[in-house]
Amino acid sequence: MLENMAGLKRTHYCGEIEESLLGQEVIIMGWVQYRRDHGGLVFIDLRDRTGLIQTVFNPEEDEITHQKSHGVRAEYVLALRGTVRRRPSEMVNPNLSTGGIEVFIYELRVLNTAQTPPFVVDDHSEVNENVRLKYRYLDLRRSVVFKKFKLRHQAAKLTRDYFAERGFLEVETPVLTKSTPEGARDYLVPSRVNLGSFFALPQSPQLFKQLLMVAGVDRYCQIVKCFRDEDLRADRQPEFTQVDLEISFADQNEIIEILEGYIGALFQGVLGINLPRSFPSLTYRESMLRFGNDRPDLRYGLEIVELSKILAGSEAKIFVEALAKGGCIRGICAPGAASFSRKQLDDLVGFAIAVGAKGLAWIKITTEGWQGPLVKFLSETEKFDLIRILQAGAGDVLFFGADSPAVVASVLGQIRVRLAQELGLIKESDFRLTWVTDFPMFEYDSEARRYTAVHHPFTAPRDEDLEFLETDPGRVLAKAYDLVLNGSEIGGGSIRIHRPDIQSAVFKTLGLGEVEAREKFGFLLEALAYGAPPHGGCALGFDRLVMFLAKASSLRDVIAFPKTQKAACPLTEAPGPVSSGQLLELGLGLNIKGKT
Ligand code: AMO
Ligand code: AMP
Repeated sequence: MLENMAGLKRTHYCGEIEESLLGQEVIIMGWVQYRRDHGGLVFIDLRDRTGLIQTVFNPEEDEITHQKSHGVRAEYVLALRGTVRRRPSEMVNPNLSTGGIEVFIYELRVLNTAQTPPFVVDDHSEVNENVRLKYRYLDLRRSVVFKKFKLRHQAAKLTRDYFAERGFLEVETPVLTKSTPEGARDYLVPSRVNLGSFFALPQSPQLFKQLLMVAGVDRYCQIVKCFRDEDLRADRQPEFTQVDLEISFADQNEIIEILEGYIGALFQGVLGINLPRSFPSLTYRESMLRFGNDRPDLRYGLEIVELSKILAGSEAKIFVEALAKGGCIRGICAPGAASFSRKQLDDLVGFAIAVGAKGLAWIKITTEGWQGPLVKFLSETEKFDLIRILQAGAGDVLFFGADSPAVVASVLGQIRVRLAQELGLIKESDFRLTWVTDFPMFEYDSEARRYTAVHHPFTAPRDEDLEFLETDPGRVLAKAYDLVLNGSEIGGGSIRIHRPDIQSAVFKTLGLGEVEAREKFGFLLEALAYGAPPHGGCALGFDRLVMFLAKASSLRDVIAFPKTQKAACPLTEAPGPVSSGQLLELGLGLNIKGKT
């Protein structure tokens, strides 16, 4: 028989019951974690979002309530009234903040029953992720899961406070909008009112925040949902949240300073960690050379070193061939890796080949001498130079990549990360931030045979490079900057183009004809013509930031109702089919091979 709460008002959360309440009556409400029947005594651990409290039912003190407690099962919803008591010393649970006390119950109401849950709702159960996501509301009852959302709330509140205190206004931008090119595929929404026309869900509010600058809003910040239909990874969701901001009359340094202050406040406020006041900065070029990618993990060394010059005279075939084709030779010194087994080295070579290398030459330096397939081709001078430039010594292994600069960077960049893992160099508790600046404005897409924007087409080229927009787009650098944390891109931004003539020139370089540019972004070009102030901004991946703060390994752990790797929601089973009536109304028909 279910009962109601009439006349009972909760006095405390379960986790708030403490020694100072000894002897007092409390009314608590929540879910049954465990029920244990010790013959005479019955114990029920009651849970709410603050924690657990042990309650006790004693037949000798209250037979009716004790009797009632027999019908209670896991996850039933109860209201309990009782007195706080000290536990007998042999029953103290040091693992629980409320472990020294318990509540002796003299009124129990069953507010709701529950089916047997598909997994035990406690912090220790190992549950398949799909099952957890299908029953996310049960999963979220677990304190290890829930505490990440408390942290996320704290981070969001701190974010709003930080920016509001600095004069930023939160302005909401539309979700039903036009395509914004951030490089992913759009999610489309068909319009019923305008048959045959589609909205795109925003990949970011990029264009709207620029329009807000034209509107004179001056400082804008929004915690906002973005949507991108792209291949998913642990750090990518189709629907994710940005801390999106834009500032007028500010240069790159001012924007970077505001962001450093924000990240510092976030880590201080949420984790109590003091980060340095400003973060180091690398140019894109330097980052590619030294770390092999544009999101370097600076928690460890293992830097990539250019060796083309000192090995230019080497007779090793792989070096000769690479240099003859205009390629380069670079290397990494892995300290202590001489202890790697042959299998470990072979696996590294296999990995290098799997990610695009022709091979991965290595040299082991031991006290007995140098070992490895290339040693016989190295002169004493070359050995001497390698030791000097790679700062190598006995016990180390040198790894070499010889190929085009792009392949060598990509392969050694990934080998670097793997070596750090295998050598145990990654300190999980370390947070290393860096800016990466001076990105190229364009990259050449050899398949599409045209240039594409590295950042997005509204990013301003450096003033000194404007003259090359038409003649040599490949050498134009952008006023763009990314923020990188422990090898992950947590934010990106740029100074924008505020002049319509430059914006048109950039569209032209991107192969967007005047008509097409007007069709797609005419509203932006028009707005720029009505007095756009110089402006710039940035967007931080809020889920990624929270993932770091919560020390989670997947974005799914910090999103309440995330999508799976297949971009689906196991709980609601979205996306799902729609009725033929709905399709008809939208003027749509399905044409899917193999399906009807
Ligand atoms: P960008 O495309 O670099 O820039 O996105 C900004 C940040 O958002 C995060 N992010 C993601 N997080 C989770 N899942 C995804 N699929 C995903 N995609 C991106 C990353 C990234 O650094 N409008 C520009 C910003 C600007 O120029 O102001 C933009 O969206 O952490
Ligand atoms: P090979 O001359 O093919 O027998 O290769 C000799 C060694 O060089 C092997 O350890 C290969 O893994 C490695 N290797 C081959 N090609 C390359 C390359 N392009 N860059 C770096 N190492 C390579």
